[in-house]
Amino acid sequence: MFKIVKDTEKKLREKCEKVEMPLSKENEKLLLDMVEYLKKSQDDEYAEKHKIRSGVGLAAPQIGINKRMFAVYYSNGEEIIQYALVNPKIIQNSLRKVALSGGEGCLSVDDDHKGYVYRYHKVVIKAYDVLQHKDVIITAYGYDAIVLQHEYDHLDGIIYYDRIDKDNPTKEIPNSYLI
Ligand code: NI
Repeated sequence: MFKIVKDTEKKLREKCEKVEMPLSKENEKLLLDMVEYLKKSQDDEYAEKHKIRSGVGLAAPQIGINKRMFAVYYSNGEEIIQYALVNPKIIQNSLRKVALSGGEGCLSVDDDHKGYVYRYHKVVIKAYDVLQHKDVIITAYGYDAIVLQHEYDHLDGIIYYDRIDKDNPTKEIPNSYLI
């Protein structure tokens, strides 16, 4: 069980360090535990019993580890999307943007911050994936791309509401769509 670092803590705002490769057993286990945490958080009974919130992504700085690693786990209705990424790098992105019409949430953020968080509609990410035991190139669109970019931002100390237009939170921008 992890204690989640909240956005009231300064350390969530730091830029994380690159992870040494080959990956240590310790870091590998940590990422697997992070995937497990997300999986369990989506089990209502478990979440209620342990008083944890449901999440689809978790970055290492959110559990107090200042390293470039994050985990993602959710079902998109057809399949399970899961990654445990080390040293991810966005190597390509679309010009087109996408945002969730209901806004984003985060395990580290207890307050509600309404508004559109525009992110790239498509990203190509290069990383080492612990679940596949190899270097991978992930091409993600729409919701999947949003989740990956949200977690990626944590590695640079960025929180989703930093990206909401303060004067007009539901501003519509050109070449973008809502889902
Ligand atoms: Ni988050």
